[in-house]
This record gives sequence, structure tokens and C-alpha cells, in this order.
Amino acid sequence: VALERARMAQVECGEVPEPGTPHDGFAYVALQELATRIAHHNTGKLLEDKAGYEVMKKVASDENRHHLFYRDLVSAALEVDPSGMVCAIERQVRTFEMPGTGILDYEAHAKAIASAGIYDFAAHHDQILVPVVLRTWGVEKLEGLDAEGEAARAALVKRIERIGKAGRRMAARREERQAELAPA
Ligand SMILES: [Fe+2]
Repeated sequence: VALERARMAQVECGEVPEPGTPHDGFAYVALQELATRIAHHNTGKLLEDKAGYEVMKKVASDENRHHLFYRDLVSAALEVDPSGMVCAIERQVRTFEMPGTGILDYEAHAKAIASAGIYDFAAHHDQILVPVVLRTWGVEKLEGLDAEGEAARAALVKRIERIGKAGRRMAARREERQAELAPA
């Protein structure tokens, strides 16, 4: 009972980032809902249990619906206030964290999740930043940005490139480690 209580206290103190403006809120949830969709789906694929896999698939498809709603909200906000919205996207990509920071051993959990291939920089870049931020929101093609918006866009595009490079480096290291561990 004591152990279970401690575990529940841990879940309750898991923090969710609190974005400072509505623009930031839209951007954060649009990214985060897709990230949880990917993570839940990949977790399901690792389960040997068929029912577990089906449950995770269903949860993942729910997360995808949440994502689509917020993704479209951001698209609409980009039409109304492109500079304000692109600044918020830049801030949220720069500071992005999955929900759960504040949980005991969050860092260790995040590492285990990455090394199991559930969620890592490569997934973040290839499945979120490129398809959503660059393709759907089209930040590189936005017109009518003010000076602040232009600066945010340049920083954002550069950061996405760097995250892609880090993801490819980490994936290559993981493959090397797996090759070393594999029996000859
Ligand atoms: Fe959700």
C-alpha cells in the first residue's frame, strides 16, 4: 500500500508545461498530442500481448484526433497573426518536453524510452517537426512576417535542422551498439 501510494504521488506530481500565451498553448498541445500518439503506438508495438497492443492503438488514435484539432487551430492562428504564432512555435519547439517532467527519475525514463525506440530525437524530427511545422504549417513559406517573426522563423528552421542531425547521430550510435551486442 505504501509503495502504491508513493507511486500515485509521483503520478500526481508529474508536471505539464504551462505555456504563457494562447499562441504558445496551441503550439505546445499540437506538438505534444502527436508526440504522445507516436509514443503510445510504439509502446504498443513492443508489447507481446495482443489486447495490450489493441488498447495502445486505440489510445494512440485518440491522441491523433486531439493533435489534428490543435494542428488546425495553429494553421488558423497563422493566418490571423503569422508573426505572433511563428514566435510561439519557435519558443515551444525550443523548450519542448514531453508531459511528465517532475516525475521521479524523469531523465532516466526518457533515456530508457529513447533507447527502446519509443520516442527519440529522430522521431521528433521526422514525424513531428518536418511534417507538421515545415509541411503543414509551412513556416518557411509564410508571408507578411514582421522583424521579430522573421528572426523567430530563421531560428526555428535552424533548430529543426540541428534536431534532425542529432537524431541521425543517436540512431547511428544505437545501431552500432546493437551490432556489438548481436551474436556473430
Ligand atoms: Fe491527448
